[in-house]
Amino acid sequence: MKSNEVIYAKNSAVILLDQTKLPFDLEYLTLTNYRETARAIRNMNLRGAGTVGVAAGYAMAQAFSEFSEIEKILQAKAEIESTRPTAQNLFYSTNLVYFRAISAKNRVKAAWKTADSILKSDIRSTKMIGEFGAELIEDGFGILTHCNAGKLAIQGYGSALAPIYIAFAQGKKDIFVFVDETRPRLQGSRLTAWELAQVKIPHAIIVDNAAGYYMQKGKVNIVFVGADRISANGDVANKIGTYEKAVLAKENNIPFYVAAPSSTIDMKCKTGSEIKIEERGSKEVREVFGKLVANETSDVLNPAFDITPAKFITGIITEKGIHKPDELNTEF
Ligand code: MRU
Repeated sequence: MKSNEVIYAKNSAVILLDQTKLPFDLEYLTLTNYRETARAIRNMNLRGAGTVGVAAGYAMAQAFSEFSEIEKILQAKAEIESTRPTAQNLFYSTNLVYFRAISAKNRVKAAWKTADSILKSDIRSTKMIGEFGAELIEDGFGILTHCNAGKLAIQGYGSALAPIYIAFAQGKKDIFVFVDETRPRLQGSRLTAWELAQVKIPHAIIVDNAAGYYMQKGKVNIVFVGADRISANGDVANKIGTYEKAVLAKENNIPFYVAAPSSTIDMKCKTGSEIKIEERGSKEVREVFGKLVANETSDVLNPAFDITPAKFITGIITEKGIHKPDELNTEF
């Protein structure tokens, strides 16, 4: 899979690989206006903070193509921003495109140029993240990852998967990846496993509850996860279940790394408790691919993300290097 096959823009349309269909079908959606692109973000036809950010940038560019009145453009911006509240990259992109375009002579041209630059910047950043992170991987390492933080989630090399892709390409031997299934939407078993299989990186899918078992057995040497938002004190919002993996890693003396471009860091957010956590619908838990797998009359609670406190994080890998979580304030 080439990075430009996940999402790109052509003649004011956004073309994206429909991630809800993976790993069974490779289907592309063509979205011709900002509303359709916003709906695709909300419905998770695309997902992962980086790809959400790129789509949001393009949706803003579509809004600039559709409207000349600032009021309407701002309405579109608010609608795009309401789709997925946790991913910082989404807000980074809507603001970058809006403020660059609004002060330009040719607003439409500036909006599309800025949206394209977000995609290009992610490709550059994830390569750097991969190179820094690969240095942490040794021959024979067992690596645990949660959710999908690969090429589908952020363009280029992915975030958490970037060190693994690059270590494997460098010829590091006997690397093995434990892929958390990641209920309820199965981003691990559907998407991460699919990505790793494409390039034949040895891996196995495990149910979310099995991570501690393999850590305790000494099979996991390092954990890499991505991030949806990182607060100034180094707390990390990522897919639900990340927090418990971090606690388990600390208990078992396993280094726990978060990989993300600096556009995921939200310096306005002082601690993780200020990060808004997206709550999703009950169907995701009650049903699997449209089939009921739970007691229909029971209530469901379905937070999409949790907060991992900085004290459980060994390092945060960005395009600038590997940072101690409590040093972000001085470095960004
Ligand atoms: O709900 P999702 O699938 O968008 O959640 C994705 C994650 O939690 C990823 O780990 C995160 O976005 C980092 S990958 C750039």
